[in-house]
Order: sequence, then C-alpha cells, then structure tokens
Amino acid sequence: FAPKLLAGRRLLVTAGPTFEAMDPVRGITNLSSGKMGFALARAAREAGAEVTLVAGPVHLTTPRGVRRVDVQSAQEMLVAVEQHIQDAGVFMATAAVADWRPAQQSGRKIKKDGSGQPPVLDFVENPDILATLARSARALEGALFCVGFSAESHDLLANATAKRARKGVPLLVGNIGPATFGRDDNALLLVDADGHRELPRASKRVLAQQLIAEVAARLPPLPS
Ligand code: C5P
Repeated sequence: FAPKLLAGRRLLVTAGPTFEAMDPVRGITNLSSGKMGFALARAAREAGAEVTLVAGPVHLTTPRGVRRVDVQSAQEMLVAVEQHIQDAGVFMATAAVADWRPAQQSGRKIKKDGSGQPPVLDFVENPDILATLARSARALEGALFCVGFSAESHDLLANATAKRARKGVPLLVGNIGPATFGRDDNALLLVDADGHRELPRASKRVLAQQLIAEVAARLPPLPS
C-alpha cells in the first residue's frame, strides 16, 4: 500500500487563458487551452489532495472530484483565488493571464463611426496573481508552496531562473518549446533553489503526475 502523495493537502490551480473585455461582445485573450492545469488538478486529486481549479474560458470537462470555479478576467481570477486559497498548502499558477486589459470597458458595442478611423484602445496592467500570492503572509511563512510556469520562445533556462526570482516562488516550471498551447504533450524544465532538471517529453497527463510528485517531495511535513 503506497500512501497517496498529497493526502491531507489542499491545492489550488489556475488554468486556461483570461478574457479581457473591451465591450459586451469583444475582448482580448490568448491561445491557452487549459490542458496542463486541468491535468495537474486531476493528478493532484488522484494523489489525494482536495483540489480547487480556477479556470478561465476553456472547453474542458472538470476532472472528477475537483471543485471548479469559472472566471473570465484576470481581476476575477485574482478574486476567486483569494476567496479559495485559505487552508491551501499549494498554489500552482498554470493560467496564461493576460498582462493587460483595456483601460475602459464600453457598456455598449463599439460601432464604426463612419470616419474610417479605428478606435484607439488604452491598456492598463493586470494584477500579477502568482506574485501577489507568493508575497502573501502564508507563503512567506512557508505555509503556502507556490509554483509558477513560464512559456518562453528562447533562452528558457535564463528566463525561467530570472522569473523564479522575480515572482518570488520556490519552483518555476518552464515549458520546453515548441509552443505547447493546445497540444497534448509537453516537456518541462524545473528550476528551484538547487538548480534545474528536465522532465522529458511526455503526455501532459504523465507530466502532471511527475510534477505532482516533485511538488509533494518539496512540501513541509503535515502537522501530526
Ligand atoms: O510573467 P509571466 O506571465 O511570464 O509569468 C508566468 C507565470 O505567472 C505563470 O505561472 C502565470 O500563471 C503567472 N501569472 C499570474 N498573473 C499574471 C501573469 C502571470 O498569475 N498577471
């Protein structure tokens, strides 16, 4: 009998893109499918954790036994994470959060005005959900283990190492190209305080199981 790696733990995962509205029918988003985050939620649940999955707009079914909260924008994602993070011991930020949102959201559909001039949109920066959580009191006390992800087109190790420091997380996971969005497989680069190691190309399901084992091995013991 092997005890489940995450028995007695609570885990919160963000997944998918965010959608930043400019008017009631349009907005900006990205090509994240949510597959890696959903695979992690499933693997964590199978490892015995109580799992909350905060998902942007995706077309995926909720893994069995996982509590799912759907959101649209980065601001809604931050609120949902803050509402559900209490008692969680692990936060995994796989969502591809939009860095910016339109500064104004028109209550009505923006129409062509006949002048031939397209509308000019101003943007404001979105909150950094991962950095916010990594700076929270529970993370600083070591009670919340935060994991960040990184999709880079080049210099993955250097970028992932810098991002780990910038976000203030103990573990940063880089997607090793080619572009992983929507694919069923991936390869990962794990960067932590001791250095880096690679999880070779495999299905997102298998990688999620391996990553959950890596996270479990880094957690402080549960209070007895
Ligand atoms: O800075 P960058 O977007 O590359 O960082 C990626 C990591 O930070 C991912 O773990 C992503 O989920 C998280 N993130 C976030 N909130 C943002 C931007 C990124 O949680 N606004």
